[in-house]
Amino acid sequence: MTSASTNVPAVPTAASPGREIAVRCRAVTKTYGTGNSAVKALRGVDIDVHSGELLMLVGPSGCGKTTLISVIAGVLDRDGGECTVLGEDYARMRSDAKTTFRGRNVGFVFQAFNLIPTLTIAENVSVPMLINGSPRTAAMKAAKDMLAQVGLGERVNDIPSRLSGGQQQRVAIARALVHQPRLLVCDEPTSALDHVTGQKVMELLRQVASAHELSLVVVTHDQRIFEFADRIAEMDDGHIMRITAGSGHKVAAHGAATGAGR
Ligand SMILES: Nc1ncnc2c1ncn2[C@@H]1O[C@H](COP(=O)(O)OP(=O)(O)OP(=O)(O)O)[C@@H](O)[C@H]1O
Ligand SMILES: [Mg+2]
Repeated sequence: MTSASTNVPAVPTAASPGREIAVRCRAVTKTYGTGNSAVKALRGVDIDVHSGELLMLVGPSGCGKTTLISVIAGVLDRDGGECTVLGEDYARMRSDAKTTFRGRNVGFVFQAFNLIPTLTIAENVSVPMLINGSPRTAAMKAAKDMLAQVGLGERVNDIPSRLSGGQQQRVAIARALVHQPRLLVCDEPTSALDHVTGQKVMELLRQVASAHELSLVVVTHDQRIFEFADRIAEMDDGHIMRITAGSGHKVAAHGAATGAGR
């Protein structure tokens, strides 16, 4: 089902010359359910995410943001259109190859932190490494190093319930980054946080993205963090309607934000 791109306004989806493209979506569709209860969540999404950029995805509740980042992260299959991530197409991968690819290259930060309550935060952060087959000692070392990078080096043996919301979100970010993915998708990472903590979390993401040439897609309703975006993609009713330069358009610092829209 790729015909849903009718009536889509022209949007500047193409990457600027010379920028590597991490994610390329064309006419991506996704419908939940069938018959009368069918919900067309994505009606023909066109978007590129450049290597090393922070793209924010905004739009009203129910417009398809979580669905889109789930397709991009490979945790949900699209129905139609094209989508390549780091040059690969999940639709052409066998299930085990997809799991391996995702395990190596993609991180996901959920709105709810989804930490395992009975494990220490270092054990929580080590999980993606263990899934990728790392020995426990190496996984725990990487987890502790990553926790130190997010400012929680002194708390590695605490369980999640002893941490504040912002600290738990930082653990979730450490967990999403510990295996050094090239693409990180975050679903409303600051919505449970106060303003100052939200800013700190975004600064951390921004800093890690710049240091590791990581591509970041951040879903948010939080206008206070728009300043961190290279570009902002506005979604409505299953389409990308517009892409604009973010107010923190740091081309010189990151070299990642050209080719923004109108
Ligand atoms: N598992 C599902 N089964 C059926 N319909 C679903 C499912 N997940 C999402 N939907 C529907 O698909 C549409 C898009 O949902 P999605 O979660 O992508 O929206 P969203 O933009 O992330 O919204 P919010 O800002 O509220 O999180 C909505 O109409 C939603 O009700
Ligand atoms: Mg959502």
